[in-house]
Amino acid sequence: MPQLSRRQVVVLGGVGIAAITTGVAGLVGQQRAGTGASRTKWKEPPRMASVDGRLDVELTAGQHQAQLAGRDVSVLAYNGLLPGPTLVLQPGDHVRLRLDNQLPEPTNLHVHGLHVSPQDNSDNVLISIEPTEAFDYEYQLPPDHPPGVYWYHPHHHGTVADQLFGGLYGAIIVEDPQPIPVTRERIVVISDITMTGEDDIARVTPMEQMRGREGNIVLVNGQVHPTLHAQPQDRERWRIINACTSRYVKLALDEHTWELLGKDSGRYPKPRVMADVLLPPGQRADVLVTAQAGTAILRAVTVDRGRLSPTMGGPNASSPGLPPRDVPLATFAVSGTAAHPMPPVPRQTPLRDLRAEPITAKRELVFGMQMGGMRRSAPSEHPQPQNRHPMMAFTINGQVFDPQRIDTTVSVGSIEEWVLTNITPMDHPVHVHVWPMQLIHTPDRSIQEPEWQDVVNIPPQSSITVRVAFDTFVGQTVYHCHILDHEDLGMMGLLEVR
Ligand code: C2O
Ligand code: CU
Ligand code: CU
Repeated sequence: MPQLSRRQVVVLGGVGIAAITTGVAGLVGQQRAGTGASRTKWKEPPRMASVDGRLDVELTAGQHQAQLAGRDVSVLAYNGLLPGPTLVLQPGDHVRLRLDNQLPEPTNLHVHGLHVSPQDNSDNVLISIEPTEAFDYEYQLPPDHPPGVYWYHPHHHGTVADQLFGGLYGAIIVEDPQPIPVTRERIVVISDITMTGEDDIARVTPMEQMRGREGNIVLVNGQVHPTLHAQPQDRERWRIINACTSRYVKLALDEHTWELLGKDSGRYPKPRVMADVLLPPGQRADVLVTAQAGTAILRAVTVDRGRLSPTMGGPNASSPGLPPRDVPLATFAVSGTAAHPMPPVPRQTPLRDLRAEPITAKRELVFGMQMGGMRRSAPSEHPQPQNRHPMMAFTINGQVFDPQRIDTTVSVGSIEEWVLTNITPMDHPVHVHVWPMQLIHTPDRSIQEPEWQDVVNIPPQSSITVRVAFDTFVGQTVYHCHILDHEDLGMMGLLEVR
């Protein structure tokens, strides 16, 4: 164990971002106003693509001085990059990935959404890599792995939110078997961080943790409000990841509609035309944007994701003093001569539909919150501002996560129907590792063609029914709320497939 300075420890124990010295209110104000011409150039993380079915990658997780919005900020990063490198894969690939832990605390790695083994040195989130140690992961993608946008991030229970919020995340692309004709492709990693005004680190407060912390700056590929350039009629493909710890991102682009190819993994038979795209934390969208002449702003439209209780503040109370408003993320500057219109998107092979297949078991997972863990204030007691709210437990079926307790045992090859029920007054984005979920019933719309996702948002006081085909792999892994503060507070269960 290396000698740790207090500062290092605090960086990791707190929100993961060192303070910057200038007034942050000004910065947030600027971002929210979204007017001032953005001179920040569009930037993407470097790509590392597999060759002949193989990719060898080394990632070092460590502390890093980054330039954010023109200021020096101490962040966490993979290979000194924020986001980390984009891994570009093909179905059937074999990936060898060495993770070197140069953080002063344990970490590990999860390849979110990939359909790979959860055991041994594959996508095993139950291991812990100690400081200064390295671990060699190996992932074998099945030859029919669905195309899509995936991502990687730490998954060491208890510090997942801190480490992700600090800057540890990167994109994974699994390419389409049939290429989609576009003028250019971009990766769009959306994340948020908190820069404080003092020369110290802001720790997450118990209140922010219960609500799910939201950063006071929203970054696109690690940049504050970059500008992208295109020509009219260019067809761009944006692979978008919501890598925020807790923030819901509803994207809108002035004057433009989105053609949604799919969410998480797999493709719709043909693109869906949408006015906006809502991504709860952890979710991804693969979209086409056809450029219209002019200057459009990409915005994150404010989303109401409920509250802890009727008296405990609204969704945006993590930025106290600022009214909830749309956040401009980037400028899409379209000028020049119009390009030739692109050929149509090839029709995609229909996805598997579990509605036509027999199910082997039904279960319900109930997502709840319970008071407890801390002394309860007697009603007569005068509440102090810091401890007005007793600590809350975030539970699934009434229990907080315990790595020693298997919550759900499934036989390999079975198809199960799960009812995901949220009995709390706030949204929870539910995520299952390794095996994606097919949406069966949602309260707000009827499902037509098959839709597969690995993150499914459950609105307050409602249920969503999904089906999962537990095929190909055995082993232990987890399901959890992807508001990663809730996951760290216990809203996670252990799943064993055998
Ligand atoms: Cu991203 Cu467990 O998740
Ligand atoms: Cu995951
Ligand atoms: Cu949650």
